[in-house]
Amino acid sequence: MKELIRNLTAISSPSGREEPIRAFIQKELENYCDELKVDTLGNLIAVKHGGKAKLQLAAHMDEIGIIVTAIDKQGFLRFANVGGINPHRLYGQRVRFKDGTMGVIGAEKIDDIKELTLEKLFIDLGVTSEAEAKAKVGVGAMAAFDHSFVDLGHRVIAKALDDRVGCAVLIEALKRVRKPQNDLYCTFTVQEEVGLRGARTAAFDLDPDLAIAIDVTDTGDTPEARKLAMKLGAGAAIKVKDAYLITPPRVKELLTELAEKNGIPYQFEVLPFGGTDAGAIQLTKAGVPSGVISIPCRYLHSHSEMVDLNDVEAAVRLVVAAMEHPLGG
Ligand code: CO
Ligand code: ZN
Repeated sequence: MKELIRNLTAISSPSGREEPIRAFIQKELENYCDELKVDTLGNLIAVKHGGKAKLQLAAHMDEIGIIVTAIDKQGFLRFANVGGINPHRLYGQRVRFKDGTMGVIGAEKIDDIKELTLEKLFIDLGVTSEAEAKAKVGVGAMAAFDHSFVDLGHRVIAKALDDRVGCAVLIEALKRVRKPQNDLYCTFTVQEEVGLRGARTAAFDLDPDLAIAIDVTDTGDTPEARKLAMKLGAGAAIKVKDAYLITPPRVKELLTELAEKNGIPYQFEVLPFGGTDAGAIQLTKAGVPSGVISIPCRYLHSHSEMVDLNDVEAAVRLVVAAMEHPLGG
């Protein structure tokens, strides 16, 4: 599991540039499902048959990153965000482009930290001219952040745990499931970080009876943190509400019963902000009952996110339990 998370987080695939991560997951799953397909927007769907009802599981493959907007005479790059990034977390960070080109983020002089906006930042490729920069990257090139994986034992630190840890959970669940009682549509979605886009078209095509997204959630367990109930190490989080979804009571109850019955540690999640693929899926066609199994994660949308492997394991077991539970259809 740790190795899988390490490999998944090492890949650079910002929103709209999911080819590398998709190729990796495709290879990982080729022997564990009945069918693997890629849809128009680029979502990867691993199908495993097992019953009448259609269960869609969704984890997003994309990660936050940047896109080059302009290149100046000295070869410095200006950029815009791809997904939610905070300018205060960017100074000194490294970015990696698709071809492996690396750069570091620098900042213009400011008098007050409050003046720091994305417009004050630039990427330094270590070149001395516009021509030299353009030989490496062009306007429109995207990059993801580059940060190494750290193994702390029970916990790991990595970039893009949002949502590569969700991808790892879904991959592992598909490998472990023995007797699926539903037709499983394991959807590895694109462009979640820019507005839950891939999940929307995937769900429209599948028209599932029930959907479960697997994603990370914020925690309240660090010094002077926002008052949130979620904490690392307390189990898989069953979402009750975020800014895009109010989980239907029967979906929340189903997941809670499955956790209770199987002795899986769980906690409830109320997140006053943010959303996941489930927020888009529930509004598809005439509506899809949807829920979320979350993995608590510290330092979200930074380059050093942290999860607890016991929560990851609990999430895998809860996903398997849902796969093996016949949904009335
Ligand atoms: Co995110
Ligand atoms: Zn996410």
